[in-house]
Amino acid sequence: MAPAGLGPRVVLVGPMGSGKSTVGSMLARRLELAFRDTDADVVERVGKPIPDIFTDDGEQHFRALETEALRAALAEHEGILALGGGAVLAEENQALLRGHPVVFLSLSVQNGVRRTGLGQGRPLLAGINPRATYRALLEARLPIYRAVSVLEVDTDHRSPSQVATEIIEKLHLQESSHE
Ligand code: S3P
Repeated sequence: MAPAGLGPRVVLVGPMGSGKSTVGSMLARRLELAFRDTDADVVERVGKPIPDIFTDDGEQHFRALETEALRAALAEHEGILALGGGAVLAEENQALLRGHPVVFLSLSVQNGVRRTGLGQGRPLLAGINPRATYRALLEARLPIYRAVSVLEVDTDHRSPSQVATEIIEKLHLQESSHE
């Protein structure tokens, strides 16, 4: 269980293209909090983009770096935190997330494929049938996203701003009055 009052105010999980970074940045602005993203932390630490990490070092190495980034962010960061789409897979990470205000941004396969632009910069979608891969990933991960989250917000046919508003309302967060 996370110690009360410590750790991120919101942790965003969900598949690639669900808007974790966009909604997260928007939430951070509206709540006057800092935004952090474990993918960006990994890229900064290693000094190369995620597709290169997958190609040069393999997915397993990326996952190990991701767990380290998650552990550090949960311990240090008190703002909004977005995770990579696969960060919920490892049981170790699921245990780390327990007790934190995790929000699952859900979306349909159709929108996911559209929003990820068929795999640009996403090594897991770089194969010959990104739509089938996306569907398989989403189906396999859906129960995990649901298990680790305290709130599920549907992002289909809704703007990032509407999604952010729903999170603020449902988690009873205090929005800054300067907007
Ligand atoms: C991944 C999602 C990516 C990134 C990596 C693996 C996944 O993050 O962590 O390419 O396994 O779903 P986004 O969800 O931010 O695209």
